[in-house]
Amino acid sequence: MITDLPFKQTSGNIVLVGMPGSGKTTVGRLLAKKLQKTFIDSDEEIQHRTGVTIPHIFDVEGEAGFRQRESAALEELAQRRNIVLATGGGAPLSPANRAVLKQCGVVVYLKSSVHDLWHRTRHDHNRPLLQTADLHAKLQSLYEQRDPCYLEIADIVMHTGKQSVHMLLVRLLERLAALQGSQENQEASEMQTLTVGLAERSYPIHIGSSLLQRTAELLLPHLPGKRTVIVTNTTVAPLYLDRLRSNLERQGVRCSSIVLADGEQYKNADSINAIYNELLSSRSERGTPLIALGGGVIGDMTGFAAATYLRGVPFIQIPTTLLAQVDSSVGGKTGINHPLGKNMIGAFYQPRVVLADTDTLDTLPDKELSAGLAEVIKYGLIRDVSFLEWLEANMDKLRQRDKAALQQAILRSCQNKAEVVAADERE
Ligand SMILES: NC(=O)c1ccc[n+]([C@@H]2O[C@H](COP(=O)([O-])OP(=O)(O)OC[C@H]3O[C@@H](n4cnc5c(N)ncnc54)[C@H](O)[C@@H]3O)[C@@H](O)[C@H]2O)c1
Repeated sequence: MITDLPFKQTSGNIVLVGMPGSGKTTVGRLLAKKLQKTFIDSDEEIQHRTGVTIPHIFDVEGEAGFRQRESAALEELAQRRNIVLATGGGAPLSPANRAVLKQCGVVVYLKSSVHDLWHRTRHDHNRPLLQTADLHAKLQSLYEQRDPCYLEIADIVMHTGKQSVHMLLVRLLERLAALQGSQENQEASEMQTLTVGLAERSYPIHIGSSLLQRTAELLLPHLPGKRTVIVTNTTVAPLYLDRLRSNLERQGVRCSSIVLADGEQYKNADSINAIYNELLSSRSERGTPLIALGGGVIGDMTGFAAATYLRGVPFIQIPTTLLAQVDSSVGGKTGINHPLGKNMIGAFYQPRVVLADTDTLDTLPDKELSAGLAEVIKYGLIRDVSFLEWLEANMDKLRQRDKAALQQAILRSCQNKAEVVAADERE
């Protein structure tokens, strides 16, 4: 069926709204660079068109004159495609401007507290409305007037808080990807995301079906460059490697792969050396992430290789067994076996993101599903009684590989594991 999608959904535009000092220009420039869009700051555009500064327009024509020019500029800019548009803080005050911005693209509200805004703008002399004796009071009254206008048109509200611009950007890219994904893939069940809270090393775990088809949008925000190396094994490669690789390559990400022998007996230094050999001979660089595609064995080995190759490269987990989805991919324990003991050599090394695609469990042998379910039950027994009750009621569905039930079980297990890890990373 062909439907006419609204301009908003096809324009590729992102509109940033928010108070003066909320970071629209800084975030907008970085976002545009990352997504290869054109950045436009509406205030800069007005200055460019008139040849004079905003304070000068305010002096000569007053705020009303400036607002007229602003509306005219926005109306024109909103016809363009593939732009990131940072708007002036007062632009969404007029209902007509709000309608124009809302149809132009995805609207992101960068929401900051009045105190943070005061901190960021107190030495700024280029904002005519903020040249006042009591800046805090002025910001408070502007905020009260404008916040409802921003909220009315926002598709995404990002709280800027104390996080770095880099973290804000990562989170914003995730939110944009999730929004795009939900539009593109309405049949897929809702993906759920939880965050493992480890300060600046915090990372998301995405759980749901059809995630391998959405890897580009879910992984792209975490890739420093346009290259990755996928590590997998001879069982998983024929099942899922092409799906992952083709999705990434469609987004211009160059992927190479390392396919190891399958089995716990290969979780050793020889396999790690085989990974190093491939990485060195293909001149893999410090910014090239390693993606683990497989069960716990592949995850543990790839993580250890990522922790040690060039003293650490980015690491991404795509676990394909239930055990790996509920346990080994979360928490950052990586390593290999030694002839004198299992998991004796290793490192704590956190991934940037984990994708648990419930569709990969379709091909899992029954024995491996049972091993994963045993881990799930352990969370219920050890630390989550209500989860245990839920498991008792839903065990048949889980055994029949019901997607919604599996997603719920993975989510609750990961929540439990994430709590343990956040409390003590080296537990
Ligand atoms: N790092 C941690 O915190 C942690 C925690 C628990 C376990 N582990 C480690 O995890 C390992 C066990 O993990 P596991 O149970 O996933 O074993 P595994 O990685 O050996 O996978 C089990 C089998 O399933 C196959 N497989 C994987 N995905 C498949 C799919 N989607 N369809 C069909 N076959 C598939 C594998 O090739 C393998 O043959 C052990 O080495 C253990 O030490 C690590």
